[in-house]
Amino acid sequence: MLLHKISDVREQIKAWKKTGLTVGLVPTMGALHDGHKSLIKKSVEKCEKTVVSVFVNPIQFCPGEDLDKYPRTLEADEKLCNDLGADIVFAPSPAEMYGEGHILSNDFLTYVIPPFFYTNKLCGKSRVGHFDGVCTVVNKLFNIVQPDFAFFGKKDMQQLIILKKMVLDLNIPVQIVECPIVREPSGLALSSRNKYLSEEGKKNALAISRLLFNIKSCYNNGINDIKALSETVYSFLDNNHALEYLEFRDRNSLEEKTVADNDTIVFIADRVENVRLIDNIELS
Ligand code: PAJ
Repeated sequence: MLLHKISDVREQIKAWKKTGLTVGLVPTMGALHDGHKSLIKKSVEKCEKTVVSVFVNPIQFCPGEDLDKYPRTLEADEKLCNDLGADIVFAPSPAEMYGEGHILSNDFLTYVIPPFFYTNKLCGKSRVGHFDGVCTVVNKLFNIVQPDFAFFGKKDMQQLIILKKMVLDLNIPVQIVECPIVREPSGLALSSRNKYLSEEGKKNALAISRLLFNIKSCYNNGINDIKALSETVYSFLDNNHALEYLEFRDRNSLEEKTVADNDTIVFIADRVENVRLIDNIELS
């Protein structure tokens, strides 16, 4: 069932809750691929009812980012959700979520601002305000759908850590389900933004997952010195890459590690053909 209005979603959820059905929410920006599919499948398995939201959230894009060209494929997304057994595809307009003039007017004023300590690093450093937009929209979706479970991918690990903190800090009655990164057989992490890459670009992008796998295998072989682990990177990245960051951080606090251990996640952001790609690997 494709719904565009908040009131229609609320009505349906109210009927489900009356009969005690459990509700799962999978928030997405659409252009659904196998990564999203794995989240939807997990929700359909775990919950009696599943809502997939498809909303390209304008307030999480920074000026100059790809808001206008972000792929929008609602018809195909709806079909995929139906095929997987999802019950509602919620695809609101920006006006439905933020009022007619949304960010340009006074219709919408209240933001959820996650802690600076979590947002002043990694993707938050170059995408200032991005996580304010993410937390605000996810909080709105939680209030609209009131899910028992919400499914997020480890592909966006910083986002996942920040959302878990939001749920904890604001006592939101939802259980976050963390889902593993889905990769192409080549290792490339699936992303809606992979569509921007040429065939050549996709080949070059393989270096990103390869270097992460290499760091993990060095760690498994007993190397825990971060300088030594980082240095391996340059043998993977040629001048088709513009590395934004490669950082070793704690899985809970996002604090920088001095020595790699089982709580370490290696985060990377890199540009290939000027497409910003992110990936990460857990060393445990
Ligand atoms: P989007 O990029 O569409 O991703 C929606 C969900 O799919 C996120 O939880 C993301 O981590 C997960 N996902 C994407 N690629 C994945 C992959 N290869 N493997 C596993 N999971 C993957 O993330 C967003 O949208 C937005 O910020 C959103 C949370 C919807 C708020 O607007």
